[in-house]
Amino acid sequence: MTTEAQQQDGAGVATSGDTLTVTDNRTGRQYEIPIEDGTIRATELRKIKTSDDDFGLMTYDPAYMATASCRSAITFIDGENGILEYRGYPIEQLAEKSSYLEVAYLLVHGELPTQRQLDEWTHQITIHTFVHENVKEFMQGFRYDAHPMGMLLASVGALSTFYPEASAIKDHDGRYLQVIRLIAKMPTLAAFSFRHNQGKPYVYPDNDLSYPGNFLSMIYKMTELKYEPDPRLEHALDTLFILHADHEQNCSTSAVRSVGSSQVDPYSAVAAGVAALYGPLHGGANEQVLRMLRRIESKDNISSFVEGVKQGDERLMGFGHRVYKNYDPRAKIIKKHAYEVFEVTGTNPLLDIAIELEKIALEDEYFIERKLYPNVDFYSGIIYEALGMPMEMFPVLFAIGRTSGWIAQWLEMIDDPEQKIARPRQIYTGRRGLEYLPLASRP
Ligand code: ACO
Repeated sequence: MTTEAQQQDGAGVATSGDTLTVTDNRTGRQYEIPIEDGTIRATELRKIKTSDDDFGLMTYDPAYMATASCRSAITFIDGENGILEYRGYPIEQLAEKSSYLEVAYLLVHGELPTQRQLDEWTHQITIHTFVHENVKEFMQGFRYDAHPMGMLLASVGALSTFYPEASAIKDHDGRYLQVIRLIAKMPTLAAFSFRHNQGKPYVYPDNDLSYPGNFLSMIYKMTELKYEPDPRLEHALDTLFILHADHEQNCSTSAVRSVGSSQVDPYSAVAAGVAALYGPLHGGANEQVLRMLRRIESKDNISSFVEGVKQGDERLMGFGHRVYKNYDPRAKIIKKHAYEVFEVTGTNPLLDIAIELEKIALEDEYFIERKLYPNVDFYSGIIYEALGMPMEMFPVLFAIGRTSGWIAQWLEMIDDPEQKIARPRQIYTGRRGLEYLPLASRP
């Protein structure tokens, strides 16, 4: 449907059928804009002009509070009802019945694999876990106490120099190999970063082990000939990877899509995702939860802490979410797995504080009114700590799981004929047309 300008009296915005009627009070013109999937195309507004040389109306939406940047068939979230689905499958079922590699296949291919497809996918990922020896060498050049997330960011970006053919992003076979490599090598880079930060020798991948089992081996193996992961820890880690695998157009995924829209290779695009995840507002909230729980110290101090939150002195970390206005379904699953991990590692008193804190907050009018519920980070840090991970590793673990989501979103973007290079507009607020003064003449 084309936008039609009609002279008509009246002001404001009115809807009729599947269209939106907008009256421009500057000109008195009325425009009919199609509504599709509860959305209007921002470019339709460009047709609303005061004169022929007017650029047309734009939308102003810092932080994309009400702007859809793409059509996507990967992840569905209903924040009001606490629903999360990957390719239509509820996260609860995937976390209970699936494995991370199967979920990665689902995200990338759009369908669950057959046994033969899963075996082949697992085999391909397993045989691509090694990195070039030069990667190890340049990683060794980082400062002895380098943050592992900074090392992961740099090293995943550097992979583009090892696979220059990855720049052929329209070559289906070629880019499939890069997808496999990214999912396969991310745990290796992550583990090397961890070992470097710990001052321990890097451990090569063990291709006899499962995806999470091999990661645990690269993290913890010392002098033993073969590292044997505890199946309960292996399972818990696998579930954490599943829960973090995708979350539609979050900050890091938007970064991957935005950088990828320049048609750069996928290693560089994923490096942008890792960079976004490095930020405390994205991948770092679970660290803040742990710090908060340590500060609370005992269950007796919870009430006064909650009072402080309600007074606005601080936030209850791990509570609240931009999208979820209900219990984050991932938090429920993680809470259940916390017990499984503690069976192996022994209990952590922080879990008791967290459970009591959650109970008190969920019964408090302040949190009920604002629809503040535990998010994925409320319990994930406690498990990571129980697994022996230092806080610096929390976003790194997040990045391993999220890689399959980033790459699925990247593939979807590359094949979407509507997508072009991302290039937002701005409202210019600076000065214009100034006369350049030579240095000597400036006051
Ligand atoms: N503790 C106390 N009050 C809160 C909290 C909280 N954790 N979160 C929101 N509120 C209050 C706000 O003060 C505000 O109250 P007001 O209306 O009286 O001013 C109201 O709830 C709405 O909050 P906003 O900040 O406007 O909500 P927004 O959607 O912008 O923020 C966010 C979401 C950033 C996640 C917020 O809830 C928060 O800071 N939570 C703590 C940090 C955290 O856990 N982050 C992890 C998110 S999950 C992830 O990134 C993987």
